Amino acid sequence: MSHEIVEKKVALMGALIAVVISIGGLVEIVPLYAQQSVIEPSPGVKPYEPLALAGRDVYVREGCYNCHSQMVRPLPAETERYGHYSIAGEAVYDHPFQFGSKRTGPDLARVGGRYTDDWHRVHLMHPRDVVPESNMPGFPWLADRALDGAEVAAKLRALRRIGVPYSDADIAAAPAAVANHTEMDALIAYMQMLKFRGDDMAAKGQP
Ligand code: HEC
Repeated sequence: MSHEIVEKKVALMGALIAVVISIGGLVEIVPLYAQQSVIEPSPGVKPYEPLALAGRDVYVREGCYNCHSQMVRPLPAETERYGHYSIAGEAVYDHPFQFGSKRTGPDLARVGGRYTDDWHRVHLMHPRDVVPESNMPGFPWLADRALDGAEVAAKLRALRRIGVPYSDADIAAAPAAVANHTEMDALIAYMQMLKFRGDDMAAKGQP
């Protein structure tokens, strides 16, 4: 009987279908809100320094994620090329995270320390000066754009509101930390700290 009612009322059936298919999603998603390894930073993972944080926003604004992921998958082909696979506890201070999936260029999650600051500077100005076959566009204007210290401090304050543990002293020190730096410097500072940031894995001798 009741089955007949459901079959005859399309809106009711639609609503019940929505309930049924959302159960699969909920079973996967809801436990993550309570799982420590996902919501707690891995040991050694700290909030971004102001300069790197500003660089991260340049990365987002310029759309670097359209060609670069930041997610090393736990597969030998990936870990041999890039280093330790990504874990959730590395990304708890990333708002929004930059995992991505498009790889026109290489994954950048472990690019920190692989090149010098000068290499990055040349590469970002004109990629083909260091990688002749590169089809990455240049971003030369970043070298001419100064950072706004007050804006960077405001970013720290906004992130604190959503749970990133910046202290009053961190926020007060942010403008001085980015003074006399360009967006290019900030982006390079960000590139250089893209590496495995937890110390638990490093202690086990993994990169
Ligand atoms: C149109 C796609 C595209 C965009 C957009 C792009 N890249 Fe690239 N990137 C590439 C390609 C392709 C390579 C590999 C060739 C090379 O090294 O230039 C690369 C290489 C790199 C490398 C060297 C990685 C390594 O392991 O050797 C870095 C660092 C990098 N890109 C940073 C950036 C940043 C920062 C931005 C945004 C400002 C950006 N890319 C935007 C395509 C792109």
